[in-house]
Amino acid sequence: MTDTGLSDSGPASEMTADLDTIVSLAKRRGFVFPSAEIYGGFAASYDYGPLGVEMRRNIRESWWRWMVQGRDDVVGIEAAIISNPRIWVASGHVENFTDPLVECTNCQARLRADHVEDNTCPSCGAVGKFTAPRKFNMMLSTIVGPVADESGRAFLRPETAQGMFVNFDNVQTAMRKRLPFGIAQIGKSFRNEITVKQFIFRTREFEQMEMEYFCHPEQSMELHTYWKKERLRWHYSLGIRPQHLRLRDHAPEELSHYSRGTSDVEVHYPWGWGELEGIAHRGDYDLTQHSTHSGKKLTYFDPDTNQHIVPHVIEPAVGVDRVLLTLLFDAYAEEEVEGEKRVVLRLAPAIAPVTVAVLPLSKKIEPKAREVFDSLRPHFRAQYDDSQSIGRRYRRQDEIGTPLCVTVDFETENDGAVTIRERDSMQQVRVPLTDLVTAIHERLDSLTPRIPTHDEISI
Ligand code: GAP
Repeated sequence: MTDTGLSDSGPASEMTADLDTIVSLAKRRGFVFPSAEIYGGFAASYDYGPLGVEMRRNIRESWWRWMVQGRDDVVGIEAAIISNPRIWVASGHVENFTDPLVECTNCQARLRADHVEDNTCPSCGAVGKFTAPRKFNMMLSTIVGPVADESGRAFLRPETAQGMFVNFDNVQTAMRKRLPFGIAQIGKSFRNEITVKQFIFRTREFEQMEMEYFCHPEQSMELHTYWKKERLRWHYSLGIRPQHLRLRDHAPEELSHYSRGTSDVEVHYPWGWGELEGIAHRGDYDLTQHSTHSGKKLTYFDPDTNQHIVPHVIEPAVGVDRVLLTLLFDAYAEEEVEGEKRVVLRLAPAIAPVTVAVLPLSKKIEPKAREVFDSLRPHFRAQYDDSQSIGRRYRRQDEIGTPLCVTVDFETENDGAVTIRERDSMQQVRVPLTDLVTAIHERLDSLTPRIPTHDEISI
């Protein structure tokens, strides 16, 4: 396990909010709803509400800019969720993608063996009443085509990664890529998880952001270190506090079937340290497997040495849902302001669902306020909010993490100015309408987290 080495990281500290607080805020404010709630819900399925959807888009966009558009050595793809089932035989998922399942002989609850504490059944409390663990394959499957028999059996992908491996040759040829280069993808994955708790931390349908970085074998260790630092930098760019994060190397017995070494970026959740992202050294496992099973050569011709080689792969893999949950925990704060509790989400401007809220002091000045709103909409994720008292509206915007509010008042018509109120300091400043867009940009910049350099991170 490695401290991130940042001078200001300090000792690991726990999150302020517990899980119930975050679940309740997420529902009350429109981030995350239990799926199919009117039918009693559906285990481990959640629907994202209007603010959750905005936040997810911001997370994806930030990752895509960081991993693909901001670099010239990574390209993106979108592969099919349901494809040829031979992929999953070759990848080892049919054989190895299993969790140890035990059954309580007292109440028949089925549990993941490594999630059972003190040999006690969490459903009925019976002690030591478990069957021996058996392998439970976590892939979800379906039948494809008009004949409902096993010949149509296909899998919903359990990771996006294989889409990159089976397209290695297509991408290399179409894009004329030279090593090292990466293929990235964002998309849904599905796993029949045995234990699903802790809200959106572990669900059966989730979204992954993965990148396979193909490189010369002799460069792979150096690049593994590079990507660990680079990925930490991205998490810091979202504003996640360094003291809530750590890197932990997998012990040999923990490694996935394809991995030569994996480091997890872990978060100090209220229930303990948990994986946010995995950064794996997959060696040549996947390209070799697909080459053997498909009969197609999946190699790289090195023009410098005139040799065909099988590249090695470094893979950073993270879930959109888990990043969103981490951000809600990390950003949540409670303060006392003038004898009242203020809940504030200190989200980075790039991630906050609303960047600027326009608040008319009274409904009577709606036309002017709408004019201001319309002038901001092309530049920012803006929201117009005119219900309830101004104090309540500020609190509501604080609670959803809106960095800035712009208040339009009775003076605005006369002096052509509005008030900007900052979420974190609650300071207010009068700004002429002619300078408003620039003034907002400046304030958003000052609220944007500083990203450490590679040299500032020691791992
Ligand atoms: N291709 C490698 C791979 O899939 P993983 O560690 O199994 O590795 C990568 O998954 C990331 O995907 C995890 O770190 C986590 O953020 C997310 N993830 C995995 N399973 C998940 C689940 N059941 N629910 C939500 N997110 C999940």
